[in-house]
Amino acid sequence: MLIPNSSTFRTEIHGVIPWDYSQDYSQDYSQGHAHDRAPIHRLYELAKANQWNANTDVHWQTDDSLDAFPCSEEANPLRGFPDYDKLPEAERRRLSWWQHRLEMTEILHGEQAAMLIASQLVSCLPTVEAKLFASTQVVDEARHVEFFSRYLTRLGGDISGPSAALLSLIQTSIAERRWDMKFIACQILIESLAMARFQELRQRASVPELRFAVDYILRDEARHVRFGVEFLREHLAALDAAALEERSSFVLDNVLKLANSLHLYDRIGVAKGWDPAELRRHLRRYRLQHPEQNRQRFRQLALNMEAVGLLTARGRERMKKMNLLA
Ligand SMILES: [Fe+2]
Ligand SMILES: [Fe+2]
Repeated sequence: MLIPNSSTFRTEIHGVIPWDYSQDYSQDYSQGHAHDRAPIHRLYELAKANQWNANTDVHWQTDDSLDAFPCSEEANPLRGFPDYDKLPEAERRRLSWWQHRLEMTEILHGEQAAMLIASQLVSCLPTVEAKLFASTQVVDEARHVEFFSRYLTRLGGDISGPSAALLSLIQTSIAERRWDMKFIACQILIESLAMARFQELRQRASVPELRFAVDYILRDEARHVRFGVEFLREHLAALDAAALEERSSFVLDNVLKLANSLHLYDRIGVAKGWDPAELRRHLRRYRLQHPEQNRQRFRQLALNMEAVGLLTARGRERMKKMNLLA
């Protein structure tokens, strides 16, 4: 599917303008006061204290640090596939950069989606505290867009559009009228998958500025996820079973599509003329031999779904069947 340079959307925002500002902002929330709105306000305070600048705080490299592999090859599922193993190292490195670039591009588009959805949440969320925090998230996501677009520009070449799966999720979430569905798409689905990916990058990436920025980005994302969990938990507890199941299914319907949205190994296999059936067999064997690698990727999502009450009995069974949960 060919995706043009930009996409459009039309949506009707249903929001709330609260006139109640009764929160006592003078209290020291870091000491954990018993107040039902305190967790959100604490996160807002953290957000203000932990701002960073993608332009000046990141040690942007100008040397040839792009000569090595972008990530360690240790967890590359293609290893052990004879056609891959016999490629010269220079070709394996080229493939690794091609794959890295596509993955970072998908993350960049996800960051822009998070920025757009967070900006809608400023309007939609029902309390002043939540709006204040959501406004810091808009700035955080803008910084992530800034970092990844600059990083990809440094790597060179064109930035391609999002995958069909990501584009579809972005358009659905932006056009969605219900604020909690937007919130779930952004804070539970996109952010949980992104956090798992960032944790992987922190362990495996070799590019210095990426390793450096990922630490800061993870701290921001952890705040956003925490906000989602704090705010959604109470809201979802008041929904009936059918509404809860609808939201749980929405997350699980999208998770596998997103996780394999780029079809990286199929594309490499086609480009290299490898036997598709053999490649599929190898990848299936690899997944069975390394179940932890896959589960690690979805552990954060399962934890966050559980924390807000979205991991219903049916949802848990589905995750087990998809081999995302033990
Ligand atoms: Fe982000
Ligand atoms: Fe985020």
